[in-house]
Amino acid sequence: MRKKIVAGNWKMNKTLQEGVALAQTVEQMASALSGGAQVVVAPPFLHLTEVKKVLKTVSIAAQNCAAESSGAYTGEVSAAMLKSAGIEYVILGHSERRAYYGETDAILAKKVDLALANGLTPIFCCGEVLSEREQNLHLGVVKTQLADALFHLSAEQFSRIVIAYEPVWAIGTGVTATSDQAQEMHHYIRGVLAEKYGAAVANEISILYGGSCKPSNAGELFANPDVDGGLIGGASLEAGDFIGIVKAF
Ligand code: PGA
Repeated sequence: MRKKIVAGNWKMNKTLQEGVALAQTVEQMASALSGGAQVVVAPPFLHLTEVKKVLKTVSIAAQNCAAESSGAYTGEVSAAMLKSAGIEYVILGHSERRAYYGETDAILAKKVDLALANGLTPIFCCGEVLSEREQNLHLGVVKTQLADALFHLSAEQFSRIVIAYEPVWAIGTGVTATSDQAQEMHHYIRGVLAEKYGAAVANEISILYGGSCKPSNAGELFANPDVDGGLIGGASLEAGDFIGIVKAF
C-alpha cells in the first residue's frame, strides 16, 4: 500500500533555535500518535543537522539541492552532502523555486537524477498558475511538468519519487483547492503515470496535495482516494496546526 505522508515545508522561516524547538514539539506530538501518516519536516539547510538530532519518528527533508554534483558552485548544497547528513527527502521544483530562481523542468531533471543517485527521495512539486486554470489548461500544464522533469526515469527510479500537486494559486493565499479539484488532478496524475509506467507503479506513488492546507480542510482533502497526504507551508510553522493536519487521516 502506498505511503501516507504529511510534510511541513518551513520555507525561509525560523531561526536555528526556533527551528529546533519547533522540531522537538512536532516530534513529541507525532510520536504520541499511533500509525497513520509518515510525518516529515523540511527546515532551511542551516537547520538540518541540528533538527535531525531531535527527530526519531519524524523524517527530515531539505527544501532544495544543487543541479551539479560538486565543485565551484558558490552557495549551493549537493545531494551527496544532504545524504551524508542523514537527510531522507528533498523537495524539488517548488513553485517558489520555479518562479523566483528560474528553475526549469530541465534543471529539475538533473536535480532529480542527483537526488535519486544519492539515495534521497525527491518530493517533486508540480502545479498550474491561476491563468492556466482559468483557461482550462491545468491538466496539460501538469502533464508537461511531469514529462519534462521525470519521464526520462526508469520505472524502478520513478517508484522512488513522491509527487506533490500544488496549484500555485492556492499556495500561501488562503484559497484551497476544493476537494473535487484536488481529486480530479490527483486522479489525472495517477492516470498519466499509469500510461507511462504501468498501473502497478502508478498505484504505489504517493501524491500529496499542497496549497493552504489547514487542520480544518485536511480531512476532506485526505479523504479522496488519490490524495495521499499533504505538503504544508504556513500551517507547518506551528506544531499544533501541523499535527492537527496529520491527525486528519
Ligand atoms: P501553504 O504552502 O500551505 O502556505 O499554502 C504550501 C507549500 O508551498 O508547500
